[in-house]
Amino acid sequence: MALEVAGSNPAGHPIPSFLATVAAGCDRLRTPPTLDSSTMNDDRWDAVDAYATGLLQPADPVLDAAIKDSAELPNIAVSPAQGQFLHVLAQAIKARRILEIGTLGGYSAIWMARALPDDGRLISLELDPHHAEVARRNIARAGLDAKVEVRVGAALDSLAALRESGGEPFDLVFIDADKRNTPAYFSTAVDLAHAGSLIVVDNVVRQGKLIETETDDPDAEGMRRLIEQMGADRRLSPAMIQTVGVKGWDGFAFALVLEA
Ligand code: SAH
Ligand code: DHB
Ligand code: MG
Repeated sequence: MALEVAGSNPAGHPIPSFLATVAAGCDRLRTPPTLDSSTMNDDRWDAVDAYATGLLQPADPVLDAAIKDSAELPNIAVSPAQGQFLHVLAQAIKARRILEIGTLGGYSAIWMARALPDDGRLISLELDPHHAEVARRNIARAGLDAKVEVRVGAALDSLAALRESGGEPFDLVFIDADKRNTPAYFSTAVDLAHAGSLIVVDNVVRQGKLIETETDDPDAEGMRRLIEQMGADRRLSPAMIQTVGVKGWDGFAFALVLEA
């Protein structure tokens, strides 16, 4: 079926009629987007997140309290929609052992740990003792303290200790700490995985900074190295997806471990 065309933008690209109403009030569709990372956001992304979480997430006093009690910490936890997505991923792979790198106030940990079976366990690594303390309180309130352990220390050290202890491999690893060390965290995550494990990395797109090679932002550079590393490792089935929503423009990288 031919696309019905309702107009065109200055570059001559046709605007499909189903977008005409939106386009009428939206210069963004008529002019080439300018990449201003500092201000780029969109109220519609927030509205869509609010619409969907309103229907998909029942009232949740425990998570609300976790957010409230994390108010003095940096506002960098995953969004409610992203937390629910991590929960579904953990359920989908029937994760029994989960490793998180970067706890903050325990928000993402609670979402993932809620997917664990009775004998399941989540270990979350956190550098800042105060963040860990807030997280432990939130995790206890969620009734998850028997399943979740927060380990304080630099994640590189905690990961080395985990590797040396030779415990059971992890089914799911969520990497969400300091971005410049992400390639190292990712390598260790593969070492701590088994065939079938899923590794998820937060904040890979960073408002497009991922591809701004002319700047020397070490966090974006870390994510570029991560994507290169994932693409070059034949033991993995990798993917990356951009996201928008209440946390702005960002994205997740995924790697299913095929061979460990
Ligand atoms: N996963 C959390 C958000 C984590 S924010 C959530 O979505 O709810 C990133 C966290 O990583 C911060 O709490 C920060 O203190 C921690 N962090 C930073 N550098 C670290 C390091 N080297 N080792 C361990 N944790 C680190
Ligand atoms: C930052 C860290 C995160 O983990 C995140 O999800 C968003 C922002 C940051 O350090 O700015
Ligand atoms: Mg993050």
